[in-house]
Amino acid sequence: MTRSPLRAALCLTALCFAVACLAIPAAAQAQIARGKYLVEQVALCGDCHTPRDATGQPIAAEALQGAPIGVRPVQPMPFSDIAPKLAGLPANYTPAQFARFLQTGQKPDGSPPLPPMPPYRLSKQDAWAVTDYLKSLK
Ligand code: HEC
Repeated sequence: MTRSPLRAALCLTALCFAVACLAIPAAAQAQIARGKYLVEQVALCGDCHTPRDATGQPIAAEALQGAPIGVRPVQPMPFSDIAPKLAGLPANYTPAQFARFLQTGQKPDGSPPLPPMPPYRLSKQDAWAVTDYLKSLK
């Protein structure tokens, strides 16, 4: 068996390529898992953006498809009684605009969302994790 440096270099390149191919999807999956955790366990986006059945339970099959807000403020105030669909990201947001909205609490036109939508101030990393997770949904 001849030991050629060229062959060794080619093997090493192939190995690096294989490792990179495996590592990229793993990183993307970890990012999406983090986003799912933030959406479902921390920010609870579904409390408002998921419709509820007649008993008030969230309808799992319609998670994050948009929903009417079931409560009203006791005093007159700016308020929205509809929470739009988030699964797949709202059509009027690019992923970058969406991540920015979650970091600044400002819509693409610079205005804040109406209550009860919280003007979140997520870190850039968390905002992108939420964005990538919601983008992955239908
Ligand atoms: C307490 C209820 C509530 C929670 C929790 C909530 N939202 Fe909302 N969301 C709303 C309401 C109501 C609106 C509509 C606001 C408006 O029309 O300005 C809205 C609007 C939005 C919009 C559209 C803003 C626009 O341009 O009109 C986005 C994007 C959004 N929410 C994302 C999220 C994400 C992501 C989460 C979780 C990280 C979340 N929301 C959690 C109630 C909520």
